[in-house]
Amino acid sequence: MVELKDVYEENVTLVQSRPLVAAFFGGTSGIGHQTLRALAGAEAEHNGKGLRAYIVGRNAIAADEILAECRSLYPQGQYTFFKIDDLSLIRNVDRVCAEIFEAERKHGQNARIDYLMLSQGGSIFLPRTETKEGIDMTMSLMYYSRMRAIIQLLPLLLKSTLPSKVVSVYAAGMEAKFYPEDLSLRDLKLYSYGQARSHMVYMHTLFMEMLAEKYPDKLSLIHIFPGLVIGPTFYSSEFPLWFRIMFRVINPIFGRFLTVPRQESGARMVNLASSRYLPRSSNSPKSYQEGSVEVDTKGKPGSGVYSLGWKGENNFKPELYEEFDKDEMRKKVWDHTVKAFEVIEAGNMFTG
Ligand SMILES: NC(=O)c1ccc[n+]([C@@H]2O[C@H](COP(=O)([O-])OP(=O)(O)OC[C@H]3O[C@@H](n4cnc5c(N)ncnc54)[C@H](OP(=O)(O)O)[C@@H]3O)[C@@H](O)[C@H]2O)c1
Repeated sequence: MVELKDVYEENVTLVQSRPLVAAFFGGTSGIGHQTLRALAGAEAEHNGKGLRAYIVGRNAIAADEILAECRSLYPQGQYTFFKIDDLSLIRNVDRVCAEIFEAERKHGQNARIDYLMLSQGGSIFLPRTETKEGIDMTMSLMYYSRMRAIIQLLPLLLKSTLPSKVVSVYAAGMEAKFYPEDLSLRDLKLYSYGQARSHMVYMHTLFMEMLAEKYPDKLSLIHIFPGLVIGPTFYSSEFPLWFRIMFRVINPIFGRFLTVPRQESGARMVNLASSRYLPRSSNSPKSYQEGSVEVDTKGKPGSGVYSLGWKGENNFKPELYEEFDKDEMRKKVWDHTVKAFEVIEAGNMFTG
């Protein structure tokens, strides 16, 4: 668990260490917005070295407000919004990544991404709904589109000297049943949101571990469960009426006991860029000081992939991964995911 005072102290060190380039998929609302806000605020308050931020989302009105807010908080920052209609389509992810590349190209040798936050997400109440590319929409938003963004932005991520941090905000630690023979959950008898979530959490871990292995010293990959953070979507028509009413009633009474304050959530998400969460080392992991870094998904400091609870604490359940040959499963999930991307890129529908 990371104490809040350490979060704020380390965030000061972070913004004073170097100019930062950050991209927020899902930055037009909720946790993405709060993280950007916290970062711009820390830069302004502590005489930071500078910030370039890219915000990806659908809602242009919300984006205008967020950009105005950031410019008033920290006018020295550069903020760019990329509007996208639907990130559950891999082709749209590719398009927006190409736009980010184009924008960064202007910075020549300094082109890079230091911090990539993936928090796009929609309703958790949909039945299995296939996109025209052949992936379940929920699974695409919360897994496939996110892994695709990492892959497409890799050349920029690998140029970070932070080294780069990838933060996927979703449901770390919530693995349950796993059906490796039906990773896409095409069998409707198996499909439920809870089951899809379980698959996506396993797949996050296994795909991220593969990436960390491929790019040692360069990339820290974090999957975090953020706690309950109330944002605008909780009251939007994306959620059923009963859910919205429940929150309107519960939040004023129990909110402070059950929820993570938005400002704290933003600061904690920024803190994931600290040196607490190191990339996998190409040298011996023994070079890390005991206790200086969080334990990762290999159960010790140094593998570069982290499954975290909302306070930045390890919530990984290694025993669940002992049910299968982890090396084999890592390869299976990698091959499945990359195959989906190849099929879609070729203009076909993924059926795997
Ligand atoms: N907040 C919580 O308490 C909580 C708890 C556990 C897990 N999570 C998970 O954490 C993630 C972030 O949560 P949050 O509260 O920040 O969510 P949020 O406020 O609903 O924000 C979601 C973001 O994703 C974007 N988005 C949604 N559907 C999209 C689509 N089809 N195409 C492109 N962009 C899309 C939204 O864009 P627009 O607003 O521009 O439409 C918004 O920027 C979600 O995956 C959520 O399931 C949240």
